[in-house]
Amino acid sequence: MKKIGIKGTGSFVPTREVPNSYFEKMVDTSDEWIVTRTGIRSRRMIEPGQAISDLATPASERALEMAGLSPKKLDLIVIGTSTADMLSPSAACIVQHRLGAKNAVAFDINAACPAFIYGLAVAQKFMQDGSHRYVLVVGGEIVSNRIDYKDRSTCVLFGDGAGAVVLTHSNGHRYGEILATQIYSDGDLWKLLYVPGGGSRIPPSYQMLDKGLQYVKMQGNEVFKYSIRTMVDAARKIMESKKITAKKIDWFIPHQANIRIMEEVAKRLEIPPDKVIITVHKYGNTSAASIPTALDEAVRSGKIQHGDLVLANSFGAGFTWGATLLRY
Ligand code: ACO
Repeated sequence: MKKIGIKGTGSFVPTREVPNSYFEKMVDTSDEWIVTRTGIRSRRMIEPGQAISDLATPASERALEMAGLSPKKLDLIVIGTSTADMLSPSAACIVQHRLGAKNAVAFDINAACPAFIYGLAVAQKFMQDGSHRYVLVVGGEIVSNRIDYKDRSTCVLFGDGAGAVVLTHSNGHRYGEILATQIYSDGDLWKLLYVPGGGSRIPPSYQMLDKGLQYVKMQGNEVFKYSIRTMVDAARKIMESKKITAKKIDWFIPHQANIRIMEEVAKRLEIPPDKVIITVHKYGNTSAASIPTALDEAVRSGKIQHGDLVLANSFGAGFTWGATLLRY
C-alpha cells in the first residue's frame, strides 16, 4: 500500500472580525462569560452573499501553491462541509470549477465538525492503491448564517473559515506520512445537535423560517460531556494502534470548539498545554475548518516542522468523531 503525506497546506478566513461585544447588544451575555466559559474572544464572519466556495477556493489555492502543484494535476477533491453554497451541486464541484481542476473527481462529505478528518480517511482509501495520486482535502464551514442570534447558548460559539491540504504519495520521507486516520459515528445521538429545517423532512417554507427551524439546535451540556469522552477515546485508540505514547506527540490539534473541552482532553491524554495548538480564541468554533486551519497556521508560523508527530481529533453533530495521527 502506498504511503500518503501532506505536500501543502492552506487556509482562509473572512476579513470581518466579530468580537464578543457584538453579542452583548443582541442577547443577555457578556465578554467575561464568553471568555471564561469558552475561551472565545473573537471570530470571523462572512459578508452577506459570500458562500463556502469563497473561502474554500483561496484556502485550496494556498495549499496548491505551497505544494507547487497545478490544479489540473488533482485527481480528487473532497470537501468536508455541511454548508455547501447550494443544496445541489456539491461545494466540491463549485471549487473544482473555480480552480480549473478539470481532471479531478469532486464530492462533499457531510460529517459536521470532523468532516475534514472523514475527508482524510476517504482520501487515504482512494490513494492507497496508487490509483489517485494528488488529492485536495478541504474542511470548510459557514455557520454564521445558521445560528439564531436570539439564542445566547449557540450564537456566541461559531465562526466561518476553510482549511485545505494537498496529499500525495510520500514514500514515508519527503512529505511525511499520515500514519492512521480513524472515524466513528453514533446516530443515536443526533438530537443533541442538529439543524431541523431546510432538508427533506422540513423543506424550506415561510412557516419553517417563522419557527426558526433553519438554525442550529444544541444541548450544549450533553455535547460537552460526549465530546470529551469521544475525543479522548479516539486519541487513545489511534495512538495504541500505532504503539505511540502521548509523550511522543510533538503537537496536538484538538477540535477548536471550547477551550475547556480542549484543556480537559489534553489533560486526560497527559499532553502538556504547550503542545496544544489553539486558535479558538480568535476564530471561535469553525466546525469542519477548525483542524485544517489550525494545522496550516502552525505550519506557516514554523511551529510544526517536518518530522514532527501530530495528533488531531474532532467531534460533532451526528454524533461523529475521529482522529488522525501523522508525521508531518
Ligand atoms: N451568556 C451568558 N449566559 C449564558 C450563555 C451566554 N452566551 N449561554 C448560556 N448561558 C447560561 C445558561 O442559560 C445557563 O443559565 P441558567 O443557569 O440560568 O439556566 C448558564 O449559562 C449555564 O449554562 P450551561 O449550558 O450549563 O453552561 P456551560 O458552562 O455548559 O457552557 C456551552 C455552555 C459553552 C455551550 C458549553 O456547554 C459547551 O461548550 N458545550 C459544547 C458545545 C459545542 O462544542 N458545540 C459544538 C460541537 S459540534 C461542532 O463543533 C459543530
